[in-house]
Amino acid sequence: MHQSKIHSIIVDETVSTNALAKTLLKDKEQPVPFFVQAGFQTGGRGQYTKTWESNAKDNLLLSLVLKPKNISIDNQFAISKTVAVSVLEVLQPDVPNVSIKWPNDIYVGNRKIAGILIENIILGANIEHCVIGIGLNVNQTAFSKDLPNPVSLKQILSQSLSINAIRDKIIEAILTKIKDANASDSVYLKHLYRKGEQTRFKASDGSVFTGTILGVNTIGQLVLSLEGKLTKAYHNSEIEYLL
Ligand code: BTN
Repeated sequence: MHQSKIHSIIVDETVSTNALAKTLLKDKEQPVPFFVQAGFQTGGRGQYTKTWESNAKDNLLLSLVLKPKNISIDNQFAISKTVAVSVLEVLQPDVPNVSIKWPNDIYVGNRKIAGILIENIILGANIEHCVIGIGLNVNQTAFSKDLPNPVSLKQILSQSLSINAIRDKIIEAILTKIKDANASDSVYLKHLYRKGEQTRFKASDGSVFTGTILGVNTIGQLVLSLEGKLTKAYHNSEIEYLL
């Protein structure tokens, strides 16, 4: 197993494992790949300005740091796809209806079980390091009312699971799949949440529209077919799902 070979920093509590991983990278030489894991985050971060909530010790709060080889900065979305497919495939044997909600949330049915926050450290024209933050709801069974649609493995499977056993499988899957980052494309597309279905979105100007999800292009934009056979691609910052 890869994981047994990689360096780890495991703490009870930190602000954010992604932040700690980036500080460690800056402050002292780290044997890359390595991972940072926390029992609790006081300032867990989601995409953009969002936060990530998790009860202490109930869930996987992980940041895996690696140095991607042969992935150009134009192809950064390949890392998102690889990580999403890795988490999807680790869950799939036990969990029905797992899908990837663009860009890289993991859903079970219409509920979110995991979030992914990837931060690439770019040096010149290369991705020097990649900090892959994963929050996976494992054993938590009550969530804040402010969260729209959370779910955990325990809620689905009616039993507690080993957080570290899942962690090791996810790390192994990522380290294996990242060697050929574009190899995850077809699985990503196959399991894309609501693909081929009419879906309502809100644009950043507040307008609401309906489009059919066709897929995702190489720069990670969601491609929608709109009324009148028009096809348009959107960045993550431009639209949000209305479910
Ligand atoms: C999202 O859904 O918007 C992304 C959530 C990412 C959460 C994980 S938990 C471990 C790592 N540390 C953080 O502060 N965030 C990521």
